[in-house]
Amino acid sequence: MTDLKQTSGAHSNGVVDVLQVEDLRVVYDTPAGPAKAVDGVSFSLKAGQRLGLIGESGSGKTTMGMALLRLLRPPGRIVGGRIVINGRDVTSMSVPELRAIRLKEVALIPQGAMNSLNPVMRIRAQFVDAIVAHEGRLSRQELQERVDKAIARVGLPSAIADRFPHQLSGGQKQRVVMAIACVLNPELIVADEPTSALDVVVQEQVIATLGQLQEGLGAAVILIGHDMGLVAQFADLIGVMYAGRLVELGRVDDLLDEPLHPYTRLLIDSLPNLEGKRELRGIPGLPPSLVNLPPGCPFAARCPYAFDRCTIETPTFQEIRLGHRVACHLYPGHQTLPLLPGRPSVAAPPSNSGREIRMESES
Ligand SMILES: Nc1ncnc2c1ncn2[C@@H]1O[C@H](COP(=O)(O)OP(=O)(O)OP(=O)(O)O)[C@@H](O)[C@H]1O
Ligand code: SF4
Ligand SMILES: [Mg+2]
Repeated sequence: MTDLKQTSGAHSNGVVDVLQVEDLRVVYDTPAGPAKAVDGVSFSLKAGQRLGLIGESGSGKTTMGMALLRLLRPPGRIVGGRIVINGRDVTSMSVPELRAIRLKEVALIPQGAMNSLNPVMRIRAQFVDAIVAHEGRLSRQELQERVDKAIARVGLPSAIADRFPHQLSGGQKQRVVMAIACVLNPELIVADEPTSALDVVVQEQVIATLGQLQEGLGAAVILIGHDMGLVAQFADLIGVMYAGRLVELGRVDDLLDEPLHPYTRLLIDSLPNLEGKRELRGIPGLPPSLVNLPPGCPFAARCPYAFDRCTIETPTFQEIRLGHRVACHLYPGHQTLPLLPGRPSVAAPPSNSGREIRMESES
């Protein structure tokens, strides 16, 4: 289980965090000023842990994933905080040091990755490029074995290696992308919406494959997604992002059964239930501009619980129960999210905990 307060790296039981993120801040410089796309995010992950990161479009999920590998492109830049992978501070690494840890220690499966396979190269050559870039020349036989093993790990036949990307289905392409990303046995995998543009059955297969890959490697995984049901089936922990902030983080069952943040509650409440009887409701309003964030809580304008303090003071991210953290002024005054007068469903737990249903982005 995670020690969510952990920041120093070493646990009392000797387990070291694979990843520590401390007060991470990322901006995009725009003509109107810096847009705070990631704003003071902190969490840690241990080997083998699976974190699902959800939030509406534009909440900063991809920016955070890219920042973890220092892959942000201008006008994006890290302006504060630390990212520590296997005890080493990524934020202060040189370019050669960064190159050395990418793929080998931390792998990114970027948003839309399956379209980034080189269309004129056979799959095998694309694996070989990744291996040789990190390990130099290997014998032909060794390369073949490495490629075959990586392809088998994602449940594909080795004959796939001799095909071109256009000869593969969407699901096969996505699995190839995951296999290439993990060919050097990384300890941390960041998968950014690996199932988007795939049909529902294939989505589940791809997520199952990611799970097998993760178990085989013993890696920690961050799965970024919009689909609460799919993410919840995969993850041990869920983090909810809103306007660049991590507003809630907890074990998946705790967070789905008893969400603490009003935004999480509304997200879960907006999902249809298993029988599809619950009407899909939007969350009224839009997220704030990241360039001109209002003072106080960024969710205040949309929050049915908002009170005076919310528009004045920014809530801190605090642990309310063991391993369950939230950024909201309702706590620690409350132990649970109070019932909202006139809207009982807002505080009623969903009948199926949202595990098999799709979360719609409302932005
Ligand atoms: N190149 C850029 N210049 C300016 N702002 C940007 C740039 N890229 C992203 N942003 C802003 O940063 C914020 C976070 O974007 P990001 O892509 O990280 O969101 P996301 O949560 O991954 O969204 P989605 O679910 O749509 O993938 C957005 O508000 C976006 O407008
Ligand atoms: S701090 Fe206030 S506005 Fe923000 S989520 Fe909590 S109750 Fe709502
Ligand atoms: Mg994204």
